Amino acid sequence: MNLAIFASGRGSNFVAIADAIKQNKIRAKLRILICDQPLAPVVRRAQALGVRVILVRREDFYRRADFEAAIIQGLESYKIELIILAGFMRLLSPEFVRRYRNRIMNIHPSLLPEFKGARAIKDAFDSGAASTGVSVHFVDEQVDHGPLILQQKIKIKSTDTLVSLEERIHTLEHKLYPRAINLVISRRRSSAGK
Ligand code: GRF
Repeated sequence: MNLAIFASGRGSNFVAIADAIKQNKIRAKLRILICDQPLAPVVRRAQALGVRVILVRREDFYRRADFEAAIIQGLESYKIELIILAGFMRLLSPEFVRRYRNRIMNIHPSLLPEFKGARAIKDAFDSGAASTGVSVHFVDEQVDHGPLILQQKIKIKSTDTLVSLEERIHTLEHKLYPRAINLVISRRRSSAGK
């Protein structure tokens, strides 16, 4: 199974997934990183791990359709079968999502449908909720939405600061995302009779 990771930032999930593949915890090949931010740390992390980086900057294209066409060209030339969003800060069009229906996974740092959006950890912390969590789901046409694959809850402790909660959420993400990817790949293999 050929994977592409889409990321725009730090890349800690990218590294966790790449490590899981190296340790044979995920039976797949990480073929490419698609990134829209040339200076993002994830670019250097991918290069250090020998993963090919395809940089696609939104500002280089007038229309979103052309930006996505460049991404699709990359996906096709590397025969990508599963797309892993890991902090990719661009919304994908409904056309793109339909083309890859059930083949785009995303991780979100809350128990969806609670706390959608880019500040999910802070929003959960500020809300005074007793718990939050991490969700991995297939992507559909709505933001932070689509069929759930795995979710795990985490208690917000009275001693937590925003920083300590963020750390615990990210640690959980690094375990949950590889497990969810493995689950999807195993299901695909057994339904294909392989
Ligand atoms: C993660 O918190 C993920 O849940 C969200 O974006 C963040 C990416 O972090 N979608 P990193 O770049 O993998 O460190």
